[in-house]
Amino acid sequence: MSKPVILTGIRANNDLHIGNYFGAMLPMIDMAKRRSDEYDIHMFIPDLHSFTAPIDHSQLQASIMNNARVYVAAGLPLDNPSIHLYRQSYVPAHSELTVLLNNFVGMGEMERMTQYKDKSARLSNDRVSVGLFDYPVLMASDILLYNAKYIPVGDDQTQHLEITRDIAERMNGRFGELFTVPEPVAKQHEFFGKEQGLRIKDLADPSKKMSKSDETGKGVIFLSDSPDEARKKIMSATTDDKASVNYDKENQPGISNIIDILALLRGVTPAEVAAEYQGMDRYGDFKKIVADEMAQFLTDFQSRLASLNDAAILTKLEESERAMNEVANTTLRRVQKAIGLRS
Ligand code: TYM
Repeated sequence: MSKPVILTGIRANNDLHIGNYFGAMLPMIDMAKRRSDEYDIHMFIPDLHSFTAPIDHSQLQASIMNNARVYVAAGLPLDNPSIHLYRQSYVPAHSELTVLLNNFVGMGEMERMTQYKDKSARLSNDRVSVGLFDYPVLMASDILLYNAKYIPVGDDQTQHLEITRDIAERMNGRFGELFTVPEPVAKQHEFFGKEQGLRIKDLADPSKKMSKSDETGKGVIFLSDSPDEARKKIMSATTDDKASVNYDKENQPGISNIIDILALLRGVTPAEVAAEYQGMDRYGDFKKIVADEMAQFLTDFQSRLASLNDAAILTKLEESERAMNEVANTTLRRVQKAIGLRS
């Protein structure tokens, strides 16, 4: 019997930030370290998702390898056969399953994807690619090829998880048991020990999510920021004029975001942080505590990153890609047969 699968990926473009780290990487690595005897762990690099919007292609190879290195520096063990680290484009079944599933997904349901709506609104019409539109189907293929059950992602990916479940149920209803349907979103949160999906906000503008595509980078802490740069970003984070540390996302989104960040750095709940600093009236003092802990986190992370063995990472990638081609091709054959492409 194969083990249930936990799977996630982080696009290889620009630089990864603490939203990616806390939203997807940390819960995954925690599972990889603690539960790989019960679950197969798939931490992959969705490189085909990297150019749905225009990028500098001369940087792509470096970004892909950077993702792999960051996963390992964040603690992904390489010496465990239940943990797989692979590049999406090295397993061609991802692309082929996407082409097949495209025919079973409606334009209407794709047009409702809020991430597509947001991203396409920021680009001029001739720069909105078909790839950007179709990206949730590719993401569904990434998940369904391996029968993944749990998928740690940030809150912005919830809708994509839901459409993946819809596609799986639709295909199973029509063609028999083809895919494992991933667990519903509420169960996913429960599994990863969270009450809700995580959404770290931009430090300069806490009304929006911290995002790789932010042009100024002022409100985004990148994993490659120097500890001093990160410190400055936290010290100048937008707060409010209430002069009282409270966890109130509605009325004090800036300070609540900083509480979230400190809780994640410490591995405790926001309520615990809030209880410790409740009512503190000098935001500068509170920010300094968070800035120091963030600086320490980045110092440690970056020193692990600098001491990695790249050859060992490449060997792991190649081993996993061989194994993943077998698993993915088995699913692909099953689908091809079910829809009549193979006898
Ligand atoms: P991507 O590369 O945009 O983001 C990677 C992960 O980081 C999370 N994230 C955040 N979490 C909390 N707060 C934030 N501010 C924040 N910003 C980003 C994202 O939710 C995500 O979990 N489509 C995916 C990549 C992907 C994938 C998959 C994920 C492709 N195939 C299959 C899971 C399973 C994406 O573009 O994520």
